[in-house]
Amino acid sequence: MLRAATVRVSRGGSAALERQLASRHLGGGRRAASRVFPGVAGRCRHREIAVVARASSSTPPPPLALGTVGFIGAGSMAEAMARGFAESGAVSPSSMRVSRSSDAARAARWTNLGVEALASNGDVARVSDVVVLAVKPHVLPGVLTEIASHVSPETLLLSVAAGVSTSFIERAVSDARGGGGSRDDDRRFSPPRVIRVMPNTPCQVRAAASSVSAGAHSSSADLDAIASLMRAVGACVVVDESLIDAVVGVRRVPSYTGPHTTPGSGPAYVYQIIEAMADGGVLCGLPRADATLLAAQTVMGAAKMVLESGEHPAALKDKVCSPGGTTIRAVAAMEAAGVRAGMIAAVRASAERSAELGRATDEAEAKATGTGKKR
Ligand SMILES: NC(=O)c1ccc[n+]([C@@H]2O[C@H](COP(=O)([O-])OP(=O)(O)OC[C@H]3O[C@@H](n4cnc5c(N)ncnc54)[C@H](OP(=O)(O)O)[C@@H]3O)[C@@H](O)[C@H]2O)c1
Repeated sequence: MLRAATVRVSRGGSAALERQLASRHLGGGRRAASRVFPGVAGRCRHREIAVVARASSSTPPPPLALGTVGFIGAGSMAEAMARGFAESGAVSPSSMRVSRSSDAARAARWTNLGVEALASNGDVARVSDVVVLAVKPHVLPGVLTEIASHVSPETLLLSVAAGVSTSFIERAVSDARGGGGSRDDDRRFSPPRVIRVMPNTPCQVRAAASSVSAGAHSSSADLDAIASLMRAVGACVVVDESLIDAVVGVRRVPSYTGPHTTPGSGPAYVYQIIEAMADGGVLCGLPRADATLLAAQTVMGAAKMVLESGEHPAALKDKVCSPGGTTIRAVAAMEAAGVRAGMIAAVRASAERSAELGRATDEAEAKATGTGKKR
């Protein structure tokens, strides 16, 4: 199976840095190759390096040594992650726990997956080595207060909540313990280890595009462990937390309207493209099912070509545009309709909205605690 990630380094970055980034993005022990895209480096602030690695797929990898992974929140994102972890063999269902869902159908799916449901969030936090915080952002402060006394120095908190910073989580847990910070004389009060993950639901089919970012008190071993976990269910990049809004922008669900939240994942842009391609096929006479199948398969094939060939998308596009042919005619029509400009604007609008919601979370906390802390 081929695995790939694209990383960026500042111009002038060394070959050693490229190798280090390749290994960070894809894990060690794999064949990695890097390539600087011609024609791009000269125009951009960054060189773009496509890194392609081949993972041995003959035997399933051994489970990661993460201990018990507990999910607080049993919704779409948690379920997609749990299914991906189980499917990939990274974490067995018997090593997972979940807080009981009030939705009977959802609860049954977790049971069928083989994951034990526990009665309270506190129970999940108490028995888990890695606690996945997978509730909506506006619910998270209450959950953190509830579990704070069960978060030990051995607990690693993994938050997928969009727009909620690691520092918010660290403060909320510390404040709920009544400590407001670390107490050198008592390990129980050491600030929590937090890793922020921005996954998306294709985790479920091991095709996620995730990012992981370290909190102030997590170790590089914590970050590596969670990056490995997310790589078991797709591609994963390690980014500074300040770049999460950009990650959200690239992968955001534009139509999402949930309360005070911005799920930073979602191939919704691509769903819209697939729908539109299928509409075009139907317009030209294809049955809907055939048109949708062809459109989806085309998108998947093109994405695999980008990931596995290491070639710049523009170069791949050029290769399929013969002079005076059908494809260049279509490309010209897309340019006239502003498809690329629209996509760039969508990513930017989403990243801005993500930053806006992150500020709103911090301001709400500052108002509640009277600390006046700002992001
Ligand atoms: N969905 C995505 O594509 C995506 C992508 C990236 C990040 N995220 C993040 O993932 C988080 C969850 O999103 P989602 O889409 O999975 O939402 P969701 O499907 O609505 O699931 C939310 C879950 O939280 C549970 N819950 C609510 N209040 C709770 C409480 N006090 N204690 C414990 N559990 C509680 C709900 O329980 P019931 O089952 O009883 O209703 C439900 O299982 C959000 O923070 C979002 O920003 C989502």
